[in-house]
Amino acid sequence: MNIDEKLLSRSEAETEAFAEALARRLPRGVVLTLDGDLGAGKTVFSRGFARGLGIVEPVSSPTYTIIQEYPLPGGGMLFHLDLYRITDSASALAFGVDEFLDDPESTALVEWPERIADIIPDRAIRVVIRHVSDSEREISVCGVC
Ligand SMILES: Nc1ncnc2c1ncn2[C@@H]1O[C@H](COP(=O)(O)OP(=O)(O)O)[C@@H](O)[C@H]1O
Ligand SMILES: [Mg+2]
Repeated sequence: MNIDEKLLSRSEAETEAFAEALARRLPRGVVLTLDGDLGAGKTVFSRGFARGLGIVEPVSSPTYTIIQEYPLPGGGMLFHLDLYRITDSASALAFGVDEFLDDPESTALVEWPERIADIIPDRAIRVVIRHVSDSEREISVCGVC
């Protein structure tokens, strides 16, 4: 499946709904990188995406824990990574980040992927969220899965 989509989201709810619908369409085992400045909406997107996978627990940013794991209905996990505090891929590998990016049963969402650009798998689907105005975000999704 080839994905190349762009959306102008006008609200937090619209971003969540878009991510929720996207999650329903994608196969298990994908890695999504979420690019965007602080406050762009990466965690809002992640929350909607998790809901689309059937996760009912509240999803918040794992800024301090780096990784948050949610069991997926039907098996596997959703790994939600926030690498804001990670300086480079060597320190990410030291805590075992590769395990989260290379599990065919599980889906991974990666905030601040630029911290580990050199070890992001080629197959990753790239989500870029750009701040347009207070309530508007341009979201683009690009990849093959
Ligand atoms: N269209 C929109 N889509 C997503 N978030 C939005 C939008 N408009 C405003 N916001 C606000 O932007 C902020 C995004 O926060 P968050 O998802 O935590 O950002 P990040 O994880 O990228 O640092 C939230 O306060 C949210 O309410
Ligand atoms: Mg965040």
